[in-house]
Amino acid sequence: MPPIPHSPIPVVIDSDPGIDDALALMLALKSPELDVRGISISYGNTVVENAWRNAVEIVRRAGIAARIPLAVGARRPLKRALAVAADTHGPSGLGYAQLPPAGVILDFVKPLVRLLAAQPRPVTLVTLGPVTSLALALRSDAAVVRAKVARHVAMIGNIEATGNTTKYSEFNAWCDPDALAEVLAAELPTEMVGLDVTRKLVVHAGEVGRFEGWMQDALRFYVEFHRKSERLEGAVVNDVLAIAVLLQPDVLTFRDLRLTVNLAEGEMRGRTRPDPKGSFARVAMDVRPEPVRRLLFDRVLRDQTAGAAV
Ligand code: BDR
Ligand code: CA
Repeated sequence: MPPIPHSPIPVVIDSDPGIDDALALMLALKSPELDVRGISISYGNTVVENAWRNAVEIVRRAGIAARIPLAVGARRPLKRALAVAADTHGPSGLGYAQLPPAGVILDFVKPLVRLLAAQPRPVTLVTLGPVTSLALALRSDAAVVRAKVARHVAMIGNIEATGNTTKYSEFNAWCDPDALAEVLAAELPTEMVGLDVTRKLVVHAGEVGRFEGWMQDALRFYVEFHRKSERLEGAVVNDVLAIAVLLQPDVLTFRDLRLTVNLAEGEMRGRTRPDPKGSFARVAMDVRPEPVRRLLFDRVLRDQTAGAAV
């Protein structure tokens, strides 16, 4: 178990919940090493109205006493048509979990840039969905983003691993490659935690029953999807890794690379690849999944005492 630092790391999370987002958010909210200063909601796995409702439910079900400010990052990609992942995460975004109906999101909801501007000191920004919210924040006030984002950890992309949306591309990169191109060009201190490492982080089908009821209902759908599409008896919980690396940095090994993203339509859309003329980013290429699974089970399981045995 990582030692708990005296002053928790301030974190803002942009997320499109999403079943693995739900696990990642729960892990973040239940980790004393992190001070979750706000959550910005994006379209991605589902439409933004569902994603907002899901985020509210996740925060409520995490049993957090403090009020977590919510913002709306992006409602659709910068240029391309909106496409969501109902086959992967279900029409609601949270599989078979029972949820209240989604409402309308009013225009006065704070955008990500205002959430960042309100931070008294620089934060770690974790993006768990398409990076449209961050691209919009950069367009709106790049100086605020640079002043307030000390580190950007993104679950996005793939270098050597097979894609999960096309053969070549990862979902978050595929959703809005134009946004990713703008974010990479900004050369924030970005760390890419993509499919090369997240594919190795699996919750096995037989472990689903150890989570709380609503999370079991969400994960059952995710496992059915992986069984059909990847012939895997379990679920790849990608987004968890982008939070876990904040808690225990030695679970990932990074390579310093220059990257570009493919903007063409078709199979190559959203493909991330090394390019000497590209933008600098640190890219996670190796993972130790067991300590991450332990963190997840220790902190997010229904029965906290059962986690220790994993
Ligand atoms: C990413 O896409 C979504 O399905 C997941 O929530 C994760 O952020 C994995 O490619
Ligand atoms: Ca996600």
